[in-house]
Amino acid sequence: MFNKAVLALGLAATLARGSVINLSIPSANDLVSEVDSLLHPTPSVLSYQDDYLDPSAGYKRKLCTLHALGDEKDDADNFVKAVEKCGDGGIIRLPDANYTIGQVLDITLTNAVLDLYGWLSFTTDIQYWMDNRILFPFQNQSLAFVIRGHDYVLDGNDKGGIDGNGQAWYNYAKNVGNKFGRPMSLAIKDSKNVVIKNFSIVQPQFWASLIWGSENVYIKDFYVNATSYNPEAEGDNKHWLQNTDGSDTYQSHNVTYENFVYQGGDDCLALKPNSTLITATNVTCIGGTGIAFGSIAQYADVKDIIEDVYMKDLNLYPSNQCPGYQGVYFKSWLGYSLGTPPNGGGGGYGYAKNITVEDVYMEDIWHPLVVQSDLTYLEFNREKYADSGLFEWSDIHLRNFTGNSLFNRVAWMSCSKLTPCHDWTFEDINIKPGRDDHPEIHYTCNNFVLGGKDGLNQCHPSDSKLETDNDGTL
Ligand SMILES: *[C@@H]1O[C@H](CO)[C@@H](O)[C@H](O)[C@H]1NC(C)=O
Ligand SMILES: *[C@@H]1O[C@H](CO)[C@@H](O)[C@H](O)[C@H]1NC(C)=O
Ligand SMILES: *[C@@H]1O[C@H](CO)[C@@H](O)[C@H](O)[C@H]1NC(C)=O
Ligand SMILES: *[C@@H]1O[C@H](CO)[C@@H](O)[C@H](O)[C@H]1NC(C)=O
Ligand SMILES: *[C@@H]1O[C@H](CO)[C@@H](O)[C@H](O)[C@H]1NC(C)=O
Ligand SMILES: *[C@@H]1O[C@H](CO)[C@@H](O)[C@H](O)[C@H]1NC(C)=O
Ligand SMILES: *[C@@H]1O[C@H](CO)[C@@H](O)[C@H](O)[C@H]1NC(C)=O
Ligand SMILES: *[C@@H]1O[C@H](CO)[C@@H](O)[C@H](O)[C@H]1NC(C)=O
Ligand SMILES: *[C@@H]1O[C@H](CO)[C@@H](O)[C@H](O)[C@H]1NC(C)=O
Ligand SMILES: *[C@@H]1O[C@H](CO)[C@@H](O)[C@H](O)[C@H]1NC(C)=O
Repeated sequence: MFNKAVLALGLAATLARGSVINLSIPSANDLVSEVDSLLHPTPSVLSYQDDYLDPSAGYKRKLCTLHALGDEKDDADNFVKAVEKCGDGGIIRLPDANYTIGQVLDITLTNAVLDLYGWLSFTTDIQYWMDNRILFPFQNQSLAFVIRGHDYVLDGNDKGGIDGNGQAWYNYAKNVGNKFGRPMSLAIKDSKNVVIKNFSIVQPQFWASLIWGSENVYIKDFYVNATSYNPEAEGDNKHWLQNTDGSDTYQSHNVTYENFVYQGGDDCLALKPNSTLITATNVTCIGGTGIAFGSIAQYADVKDIIEDVYMKDLNLYPSNQCPGYQGVYFKSWLGYSLGTPPNGGGGGYGYAKNITVEDVYMEDIWHPLVVQSDLTYLEFNREKYADSGLFEWSDIHLRNFTGNSLFNRVAWMSCSKLTPCHDWTFEDINIKPGRDDHPEIHYTCNNFVLGGKDGLNQCHPSDSKLETDNDGTL
């Protein structure tokens, strides 16, 4: 490959550049490094085979094997080249331990496998990621990595996935929620028939994963961990880990989670507007705000739906960096539109129905079961706007909940007077309150139509402010 002609051309090019735009004569050092790069060209990082016999598929297909450049050099361009070559019908294999990703990625995979044995490690140039964000219009959020297409597999081989190098982002946001520009690590967008398996997302910059506008997505053996290593964060009760959601669904149908372990400081799993046919089994959530239905109805006059949800075998614990704030949490915005998303909004409507959650175990959770129907993150006189929510929570069935809460609360359910909750059933809710000094708030249900056979007759209306007056710790 290397020959004298190439060397001569290279030198000529250098001299020509110098004579056109820069009259100074190249230094000896410049010439030495130019010659050096010609003598030692970058080894071929991308190799291609067009007749690879895929043992799991049983047929021959394209295989692109991409090696990392190393030395923290950006592998994003080569990754995109590999996707262009093999992303339609082939396998893109990344056998090395660490690939540096320094650019936003928006790729398409069709009938393809992204086969990772190490980490896509995202760089931490905050200004770059903010300036180049891919927009997720919901709540004006940002994305770093988008995958579109159909019939594709993301396989982390139990060895890798995405390293968001999130510490820089946790430091950047400190304890401020929804700080602008933090990008999500992975977005599955406009996709159909997707399998994600044995895949990890560690140190996500923001939400670890988003399933948006997609259907038939099957996520099995999935792991997310956001941990803060900054000693300065120790003073904060959640170690600056807010917004490190595990996985959110939005405008998506038929998404299945199986064997999912989450550690972090926010929603383990969150079902955002228009999430239908969502199944989650064997999910462990360590620290954060638990399994969230919502938040929903944040956009005035927009109809939102959550429907046909089945969840089983959920386990919730606190972590050593973040309490377990909620267990299973239904949260809809107030009925007025106040301020703008992400932290303001409200006035949306719609419904959640046909939801079953069973076999739930929790330990030391602050608020095991919560319905909030007047959500806002803005500070103002809430009472003025209470009971205004327009979102309807009905046909919801909770069964076999065991474990303990940390304080007095077991069920803290406040639906809206305008749109009461109805047709819920509770069966075998055996969560032991961690404290017994205020039994009157163990089970409270406001604007809840309970029919007598629904299994939670001890639940009663209450306007107790004990909780809010004690930061939720009573
Ligand atoms: C001109 O070239 C010299 C030698 O290659 C380099 O040190 C210098 O920075 C260049 N100047 C400009 C303005 O590019
Ligand atoms: C990958 O490389 C980045 C630097 O680009 C480094 O910060 C990170 O720790 C490495 N990750 C692994 C798993 O080696
Ligand atoms: C999103 O947030 C950025 C930064 O605050 C702001 O400049 C932009 O106008 C916002 N966009 C919308 C649609 O609110
Ligand atoms: C994940 O990897 C383990 C081996 O490490 C394997 O037993 C399991 O079947 C894999 N899961 C999936 C969904 O392929
Ligand atoms: C849901 O997706 C799975 C694949 O993950 C598929 O097997 C199943 O048929 C789909 N169900 C419906 C109702 O579309
Ligand atoms: C998350 O990572 C931290 C730090 O490495 C570790 O201590 C913790 O055990 C991990 N959590 C899970 C569930 O693996
Ligand atoms: C539940 O998920 C955990 C963590 O992925 C796994 O170790 C365990 O085998 C799973 N249990 C079942 C019954 O699949
Ligand atoms: C949700 O679906 C409903 C009914 O199809 C539609 O009217 C509404 O615009 C959708 N909302 C969002 C946020 O996609
Ligand atoms: C309720 O949702 C489940 C999926 O979780 C689905 O199989 C069932 O058909 C739905 N029921 C109704 C009445 O739509
Ligand atoms: C209740 O759920 C637990 C797991 O949280 C499970 O071990 C137990 O078998 C379930 N009980 C019944 C009666 O299904």
